[in-house]
Amino acid sequence: MLTSQKHLFNLDSGFHYLNNAYRGPQLKSSEEAGIASIIQQRNPFQLKPTDFFEGVDSVRKLFGKLVNCESSDVAIIPSTSYGFSSVLTNLKPKVGGKAIVVQDEFPSGYFSIARWARENQATIETISPDPTSTSKGESWNLALLGAIDIKTSVVLISSVHWMSGVKFDLEAIGAKCQKMGAVFIVDGTQSVGAMPIDVKACQIDALICATYKWLLGPYSLSIAYIGEKFHNGIPLEESWMNRVNARDFGRLSEYASDYNPGAARYTVGEAANFVLMPMLQASLNQIIDWTPAAIQNYSSSLNQPLIDFIARIGGSTEPEPFLGQHLFAPLLPKSINPSDLKQELEANQIFVSMRGEYLRVSINVFNEAKDITALMHVIEQQL
Ligand SMILES: Cc1ncc(COP(=O)(O)O)c(C=O)c1O
Repeated sequence: MLTSQKHLFNLDSGFHYLNNAYRGPQLKSSEEAGIASIIQQRNPFQLKPTDFFEGVDSVRKLFGKLVNCESSDVAIIPSTSYGFSSVLTNLKPKVGGKAIVVQDEFPSGYFSIARWARENQATIETISPDPTSTSKGESWNLALLGAIDIKTSVVLISSVHWMSGVKFDLEAIGAKCQKMGAVFIVDGTQSVGAMPIDVKACQIDALICATYKWLLGPYSLSIAYIGEKFHNGIPLEESWMNRVNARDFGRLSEYASDYNPGAARYTVGEAANFVLMPMLQASLNQIIDWTPAAIQNYSSSLNQPLIDFIARIGGSTEPEPFLGQHLFAPLLPKSINPSDLKQELEANQIFVSMRGEYLRVSINVFNEAKDITALMHVIEQQL
């Protein structure tokens, strides 16, 4: 069982940061790797041709290990919107077909699918949970599974809903997509790193993740698993680094016509980013060492008193198995005004997010029981 890993971060003391879903803090190891790399850049004559590829190679391999794919199926991208566009540009619509999203999907995913639908004369079906159900997750997953049919070209959803933390049953949804011949695109930003995922078991065609949350990576760096269905697609841009002869600096102008195999063609230009890549490499190494399963267990151990407390005061949380232990949004008793509560929490140096009507709490390995106790104390005062 993991214990608090706060000593591995440079977080200021005296704050209760329950908002990893907004931005994950930097690991000391990641910060050190970035600083060392900035210093190394002082002398460009030390930069070897292999440096352009080795960092990217390692990161692709580590991410592959985390999500269960080959490193050749991994592309380095700058943002999730870049990843969605990369795959959707290569997606042929079914005649009279539709795209499926869930209610309040994160805007980068929603806008990408909306553009694809507009450009391909497809309709968009937005799936909502049953507001009267005691398990929002159960009704939402059932509605999603029911909506995927032979007319479905693509399903684009987040692994865990970014506002409420509701978990989607990726294995069941992937199986239904496969059966109906629909492409399955998942935004893993709010769970990959903190929750186990297996792209093969879930039959995911593209898994797109920003790294600055649960992968504890730097901002402006995202990463994607892009499966076989897209391996012959056309990338958004033509970087010299993605061609088969790129490592041979003497032959670059021989203009190789082939891309590197797998998902490599979708890697953004200048992906070698000498500062950001070592930072991500350090954080991926650390997450693999902890394991996402252990992070879920650790979050769950911190969560339990909060879940019990919320029930005691007349609120509710999403029941298992649709509750993400690292990210959830308790429904508070009606007597509590969420924006007043948020203000009071901040006055007490407790940081959570308001997303729509939800008070979103997110927990990671740097949190401790005292963060949850402080949160419960302020909620209690608001009753
Ligand atoms: C589910 C989800 N996807 C993506 C992002 C970030 O997207 P982008 O990389 O396009 O800025 C966020 C940020 O909050 C998110 O919650």
